Amino acid sequence: MKVELRILRYLPERDEAPHWERYEVESDPMDRVLDLLIKVKAEQDGSLSFRRSCGHGICGSDAMLINNRNRLACRIRIDQLGKKISVAPLPGLPVVKDLIVDMSGFFGKYRSVKPYLINDQPEPERERRQSQEERAKFDDTTKCILCAACTSSCPSFWARPEYVGPAAIVQAHRFIFDSRDEGAAERLEILADEDGVWRCRTIFNCVDACPRGINITRAILEVSSAIVGRRG
Ligand code: FES
Repeated sequence: MKVELRILRYLPERDEAPHWERYEVESDPMDRVLDLLIKVKAEQDGSLSFRRSCGHGICGSDAMLINNRNRLACRIRIDQLGKKISVAPLPGLPVVKDLIVDMSGFFGKYRSVKPYLINDQPEPERERRQSQEERAKFDDTTKCILCAACTSSCPSFWARPEYVGPAAIVQAHRFIFDSRDEGAAERLEILADEDGVWRCRTIFNCVDACPRGINITRAILEVSSAIVGRRG
């Protein structure tokens, strides 16, 4: 079948503004959007730029706006989209070229919440043990692949780019609720800031956008409750 693929192209040093370009691509219904992008680059325009690595929904590098919704190009198939497909870079992030956005601000926020285990206690002889119930408290947020689909779909982030954003809160949640970690107080302090969790307006765009099915709004509410609990 033939698919009409519209791609928002932009090279900031050359173009005054982003513009749509249209490609006709021979495709199989089971192809993914990533397959089409690779085909266009190989057969029609080698200058088309996009990120991808694993091709299997693990690395998080090919999140983009596909038919007006943030998704991973390697996970969404043509039969789920139809014969007319539009692809644009993730909204709210500066475009470097075509579908490649500048992720440095996004990863800066990720680092700001200390996304690693903090525990200054002497190392035990064996691993730090944890019950299944303790592990279950943060199981959902371990699934995050840092693709930025959630943060870049969030109107609160569009309105105020300083907002730490759902992805960083999800990453903080993963450690705040880990019984082996001792850095929860530090992280909650950071997230209680004016650009922390209170910017969330429970719009749920993040939940719709997450390719891993993480209940992001619930994670944000659990972090907010932990902040309130500490103050109370
Ligand atoms: S290429 Fe790795 S998640 Fe899509």
